[in-house]
Amino acid sequence: MDRVDGKIAVITGGGRGIGQTTAELLAEEGAQVAVTDIDADAGTTTVEHITDAGGEAAFFEHDVTSEADWERVVDKVQDTLGVPDVLVNNAGIYQIEPVDEIDVDDWKNLMDINVTGVFLGLKHCTPLMREQGQGSVINLSSVAGIIGLSGHTCYGASKGAVRTMTKDAAIELAEAGVRVNSLHPAYIDTQMADYGAETLGTPKEELDAMHPIGHMGEPEDVAYAVLFLASDESTFMTGSEMVLDGGLTAQ
Ligand SMILES: NC(=O)c1ccc[n+]([C@@H]2O[C@H](COP(=O)([O-])OP(=O)(O)OC[C@H]3O[C@@H](n4cnc5c(N)ncnc54)[C@H](O)[C@@H]3O)[C@@H](O)[C@H]2O)c1
Repeated sequence: MDRVDGKIAVITGGGRGIGQTTAELLAEEGAQVAVTDIDADAGTTTVEHITDAGGEAAFFEHDVTSEADWERVVDKVQDTLGVPDVLVNNAGIYQIEPVDEIDVDDWKNLMDINVTGVFLGLKHCTPLMREQGQGSVINLSSVAGIIGLSGHTCYGASKGAVRTMTKDAAIELAEAGVRVNSLHPAYIDTQMADYGAETLGTPKEELDAMHPIGHMGEPEDVAYAVLFLASDESTFMTGSEMVLDGGLTAQ
């Protein structure tokens, strides 16, 4: 129960879904967790779950698209918990739409959250990690950042950007001891998968059947991958892409 004992972890979008489960698992494994989210009620509830279970966590209201928010949150995390060892750039939104119907403002909003949000996290957390000579950044990409999927031009472009941004930052920061890796889940059973089923007009069982293993993933499947990358078990891994997709992209 101490795979990340003593580490300080910042998790964006920690109010629900993958972020919530990951925050709870990292706390269970000994980390002090800074849960950030644009949704204050959800983020506060995650922190309550953690503290009720005997873990340590604090909530910070945070819009990942705002540089001023990142500056404020990173300062407050240092005051409250200390210098972050781990950053999980998890906050993101999903969109399925034919390319010729995507509104340019929706495109910009998604890029702002899914791409600029990750960039700002790297910009504001990695200088602190550099100073302490170590750190691990875990960026949530997707299988949509690796393969093409109909209706996924906007979302896929954002997750492809996260995939390559991860490798660029990994190379730049390797000598400083700061690791940067990306995760590539297929469908995981959160509100995003509900949106996917609804928008594609398919029952969730059909989404399950897309995965050779026979079902979509659970938030825990991603949380355990984050735990490994956050821990010192993965110190030789940087610039890697870890695929969690029940065999989807192996076909
Ligand atoms: N669920 C899936 O099928 C799936 C698959 C591949 C990748 N992912 C990626 O995993 C990550 C988490 O997905 P999820 O399924 O848990 O999503 P979710 O919709 O359940 O949760 C997303 C969280 O991000 C927060 N958020 C949204 N915009 C924000 C902003 N501007 N600033 C701060 N917080 C914001 C929301 O309030 C919410 O708590 C996303 O980056 C997503 O693209 C999810």
